[in-house]
Amino acid sequence: MPNLNINGQDTAVDAPAEMPLLWALRDVVDLTGTKYGCGMALCGACTVHADGAAIRSCVTPLAAVAGKKITTIEGVGADSVGQAVQAAWRKLDVAQCGYCQSGQIMSATALLAQNKQPSDADIDAAMSGNVCRCATYVRIRAAIHEAARALA
Ligand code: FES
Ligand code: FES
Repeated sequence: MPNLNINGQDTAVDAPAEMPLLWALRDVVDLTGTKYGCGMALCGACTVHADGAAIRSCVTPLAAVAGKKITTIEGVGADSVGQAVQAAWRKLDVAQCGYCQSGQIMSATALLAQNKQPSDADIDAAMSGNVCRCATYVRIRAAIHEAARALA
């Protein structure tokens, strides 16, 4: 039974160590904001942070994140970067159907935590693994720039 730190709380996860983190988050600890898309690290819908880095939770076993700080979409607004990203997403009305958006926000937040003034190329590189079937890419890029301005 791995012990994980999820959104600042030490959590005993009653699941086998080889279970993908995505399933543990959604089905064991009931944090359903992180979405299943492809299950093969191809779409980014399942993106969460492990020690601040964006990871694909669908292909990450619990054993690989034991001892790391896991942040999900439910907890990303606890700091100023996450708050700025969420505010920019609301201001620019980024989401369409919304399914991909928690993953988009997690990747955007990880980018801005490391790079306060990302260029378009930086954004495209950081976000290239997050697919949006509604093609909200232009608004996503604009919202990341908006969040960067708010954090400056
Ligand atoms: S569900 Fe994990 S990358 Fe698609
Ligand atoms: S908003 Fe619909 S898939 Fe991205």
